[in-house]
Amino acid sequence: MITGVGVYLPEYILDNHELSKMVDTSDEWIMTRVGIKERRILKEKGEGASFMGEKAVKQLLKKTNTLPEEVDLLICATVTPDMPFPPTANIIADKVGIRNGFQFDINAACSGFIYTLITASKFVESGQYKKVIVVGSEKMSAITDYTDRTTCPLFGDAGTAVMLEPTTEDLGMMDFIARSDGMGRHHLYMKGGGSCYPATHETVDQKMHYIYQEGQVVFKHAVSNMADVSVEIMKRNNLSAEQLAWLVPHQANLRIIDATAKRMGLDPSKVMINIERYGNTTSATIPLCLWEWEKKLKKGDDIILSAFGAGFTWGTIYLKWAYDGDKVE
Ligand code: UT7
Repeated sequence: MITGVGVYLPEYILDNHELSKMVDTSDEWIMTRVGIKERRILKEKGEGASFMGEKAVKQLLKKTNTLPEEVDLLICATVTPDMPFPPTANIIADKVGIRNGFQFDINAACSGFIYTLITASKFVESGQYKKVIVVGSEKMSAITDYTDRTTCPLFGDAGTAVMLEPTTEDLGMMDFIARSDGMGRHHLYMKGGGSCYPATHETVDQKMHYIYQEGQVVFKHAVSNMADVSVEIMKRNNLSAEQLAWLVPHQANLRIIDATAKRMGLDPSKVMINIERYGNTTSATIPLCLWEWEKKLKKGDDIILSAFGAGFTWGTIYLKWAYDGDKVE
């Protein structure tokens, strides 16, 4: 079960007004087509995902009264690691002083938090691990082309972390559905910087170190697949829309979120939405919502988390929230 949430948000705010001076766009277009007003950008030179992950983990340890030496495992979901290796999870653990366990990264793009939470939960359920941290940390600004109006309004930076611990109560992850389809790799990717196209002058000239996205294709798959698994998990757990306390959707496009909530028959007041202020922070969107709404969450709340991303990857988790958020300092 999740026993705490920590977040770090960079201070710098890039709003639509400033963006419209950089590329041919407008606040009106971005708000109506996507629903984003502003996003955070990490400006510190030479700092990346581990910088934000470290800060989020430190906040989490404080909130959950945990010492670094008590942590058994830390898994970091990211598509923007500090560097190709070592894993960013190792770097975060070293900075925080976590030395008694092991750490690794998971790359599942915008489904990173869902995939990683499922993986981490299994370590806890095995009975072998007592304190497991899941980090979702992304410096999307590092791979965003700020001359491309079709992608640069979409993304933002953030670091997040949640703590997982065992329980004998009927709380925590009750069910999940995880899916992927490699045909999606043709529609959303970053071609350069891997083993096929390592960095050269040519790859830089051809802008291969930036996000490439065919927006409409991704949109179509996101809407149908995110809604399908969310409805399926409701059905197979006999969850009614009335019974559900919250939907926590990945924040890529307000229209995708609305379509998913509608298919689930959910009242809009039960959907966590903060895309307007942070944009798409990839693996950080869902924990960022949980952190913002923490005070309103109650022990036993039925919650569905859902995401869709590059790969394609997608998935959903049904969980019973484990603590009363209003009692958190
Ligand atoms: O989180 C990972 C998964 N990613 C997603 O889920 C993203 C899914 N895709 C989307 O959210 C949407 O497809 C976008 C937000 C990326 C684009 O919205 P759209 O409604 O699909 O727009 P479009 O690509 O069909 O473009 C419509 C028009 C085009 O102009 P023409 O060809 O109709 O003249 C674009 O050139 O809007 C134009 N356009 C813009 N105009 C102003 C594209 N970007 C912009 C912009 N400002 N920033």
